[in-house]
Amino acid sequence: MVYRHILRPLLYRMDPEKAHHLAFGALRWTAALPGGKAMLRLALSPKADPALAIKVWDLEIPSPVGLAAGFDKDAIGYEALGAAGFGFVEVGTLTAHPQPGNPKPRLFRLPKDRALLNRMGFNNGGSQAAEPRLDRPRSTIVGVNIGKSKITPPAEAADDYALSAARLAPHADYLVVNVSSPNTPGLRDLQAVESLEPILRTVRETCERAVPDRRVPLLVKIAPDLADEDVDAVAELTRALDLEGVIATNTTISREGLQTNPATVRGMGNGGLSGAPLEARSLQVLRRLRSALGPEPVLVAVGGIEDPDDAWVRVQAGATLVQVYTSYVYEGPYLPRRLAHGLGRRAKDAGFARVQDAVGTAVASPGVREAMAQSRDIS
Ligand SMILES: Cc1cc2nc3c(=O)[nH]c(=O)nc-3n(C[C@H](O)[C@H](O)[C@H](O)COP(=O)(O)O)c2cc1C
Repeated sequence: MVYRHILRPLLYRMDPEKAHHLAFGALRWTAALPGGKAMLRLALSPKADPALAIKVWDLEIPSPVGLAAGFDKDAIGYEALGAAGFGFVEVGTLTAHPQPGNPKPRLFRLPKDRALLNRMGFNNGGSQAAEPRLDRPRSTIVGVNIGKSKITPPAEAADDYALSAARLAPHADYLVVNVSSPNTPGLRDLQAVESLEPILRTVRETCERAVPDRRVPLLVKIAPDLADEDVDAVAELTRALDLEGVIATNTTISREGLQTNPATVRGMGNGGLSGAPLEARSLQVLRRLRSALGPEPVLVAVGGIEDPDDAWVRVQAGATLVQVYTSYVYEGPYLPRRLAHGLGRRAKDAGFARVQDAVGTAVASPGVREAMAQSRDIS
């Protein structure tokens, strides 16, 4: 109520990027007060509940609802965001070289579509600067998302990713190779298997060297704009390289089906669209991945998840974890708790003791559905 009727209208009067910095700054400031994190937890976190906890990759994640990459690009506020109700926080995208990103304005609201359009261009202080901020004890599960620096030519992409992996894998609960942002020229071409394979192999080897005593879960994050055959090719590569997961999806370059005036949308320029218009395609990609991959590995669903029903559909379609970004901006600070409690309620109503038991229960292929049930029984 307070967010929707007082804070949101105030934030909406501001430039979207300024509003982001103000809101995120206020959250970090609150968390830094004596007792601030406890206060945030009390006000915003879901009730600690074994039915919500997800056991995956040797981690116990308190809630399946996480914050997607791009909100905390420089890993400056993950503890505050964890206290504010996210079960896990994905920081980044971080690049090997610090970079300013694209000229402003580069973030736009489309309220009629409950969407955002961004061409931030991986603005971040670089993986070297972020390292010490991640190298400290923490109570939040943190995924680290890495991308290619703009100045690095595509032929040298693998080494660029590896440099960030060497710095950050030791501090990552999981590591994400992001090849799907539309805002770094040529980046999405790296999703082609011939380009992606050497990158993922190099990053895996780097992780093994940098973190010899632990297998760092390695995931790849893909675009919703891939053709179905390319989604299948990524699935095949995921299996061949024994990756721990796929994140589906990043933002889309499509502008189809928007309610916002087309001239207004054109005026905003290039960029990736996120939020409600992405929902259907993200879900399709998730389903395609699940049926191509079988029961393993873990899928993380992101793109247009706005309410508990959306999150529940993704879980049943085979996502072990879900993430949000745009709906957090529109719905405000109670969203992570609302989604987590809603998932817990839906799982119980459907006869499952835990949300995790419902993962993949509505997968269309009976073979994959049964294999998922079996792998759940074993774990
Ligand atoms: C302003 C903004 C910045 C983003 N930056 C990144 C990023 O740096 N790396 C990344 O992998 N995804 C980034 N994303 C994409 C989100 O992580 C997510 O995949 C996408 O927004 C779809 O989810 P949503 O519909 O819940 O927003 C960004 C999204 C937004 C809106």
